[in-house]
Amino acid sequence: MTETVHVPLGDRAYDIRIGPGLLEQAGAFLGPLLARPRVAVITDENVAQLHLEALRDGLEKGGISLVFLKLPAGEATKSWGFLEQTVEWLLAQKVERNDVVVALGGGVIGDLVGFAAAILRRGVRFVQVPTSLLAQVDSSVGGKTGINAPQGKNLIGAFHQPSLVLADTDVLSTLRRRDFLAGYGEVIKYGLLGDAIFFQWLEEHGSRISGGDAAARISAVKRSVEMKADIVVRDETEQGDRALLNLGHTFCHALEAATGYSGRLLHGEGVAIGCALAFELSARLGLCSQEDPGRVRTHLRNMRMKADLSDIEGDLPESEKLLELMAQDKKVVDGQLRFVLARGIGQAFVTGDVPASDVRDLLDDALAARRA
Ligand code: GLY
Repeated sequence: MTETVHVPLGDRAYDIRIGPGLLEQAGAFLGPLLARPRVAVITDENVAQLHLEALRDGLEKGGISLVFLKLPAGEATKSWGFLEQTVEWLLAQKVERNDVVVALGGGVIGDLVGFAAAILRRGVRFVQVPTSLLAQVDSSVGGKTGINAPQGKNLIGAFHQPSLVLADTDVLSTLRRRDFLAGYGEVIKYGLLGDAIFFQWLEEHGSRISGGDAAARISAVKRSVEMKADIVVRDETEQGDRALLNLGHTFCHALEAATGYSGRLLHGEGVAIGCALAFELSARLGLCSQEDPGRVRTHLRNMRMKADLSDIEGDLPESEKLLELMAQDKKVVDGQLRFVLARGIGQAFVTGDVPASDVRDLLDDALAARRA
């Protein structure tokens, strides 16, 4: 039942394996990559408790031993201090140029460990074992690695492709419902940006996916990573098309900053709200039909997800401040806000040509609806 998506990037090509029970088979998947039967695993305290033993057993079955480092869970770990700790630990473990480092965890661990692997001895190979839905469908694929700076998220990093991604769909059943649904925000994003048939399939099967249906989850993860892989192969270092993956993200980043990167709004929740706002903006600009934003919101609401600014608890700043936060986004080019808009469901495009007044009006209306 294991599915494979190949990412054909020449000498950086790799496979993404998707399916149940992959942790238990880790030895068989990693064995062919190893020059010696030993790997260094970096994980976080929560994930270690849930999944480290299964990974250890799976590796041991293939005759592979592991050393491991547990870091604190949470976004604060994506920082200089923990990068230093990780790199120094890898050196202390005598990880050599031909060894493989394993990232076992969600997006924070994947990004941090990928960056540590990129700079250790000028680059060692690493394997992503993503344990959140968001990491399985987005951050573990495509080679973006890095840490946060005081000036903003993900401002320090490198492109460094993994050598293998093992997306064990069994681990998804250990996620809190809220985290699972936040990851599902990124799944919806793929349908909205480039595959209307996939979005329609999600509308029909979303409740099976959230309800734990294994086959539906595998299909959703597979289609998402196929789409991501396709875009990454066209534009590995985000000179063009890769920016499509940022559908909903300009709004999301402003909302995350406005809520202090706190538990008030998870990244995937911000992406879902951002996608709905991007479609609303597209409809107001006459780019897509008036029905499309409603369809996006209906699916989010059917999935019991946040769909609008009114679903964010606590105070939000005025539209002017939100616009300022958008202008700090690292995707701003020459001071021009860049948006991913859509000509319909599955037809997204990137533009720098959006009048700030239209964005302000949209936000004013959304903030007013929140107060009503
Ligand atoms: N998460 C967006 C990208 O990988 O480009």
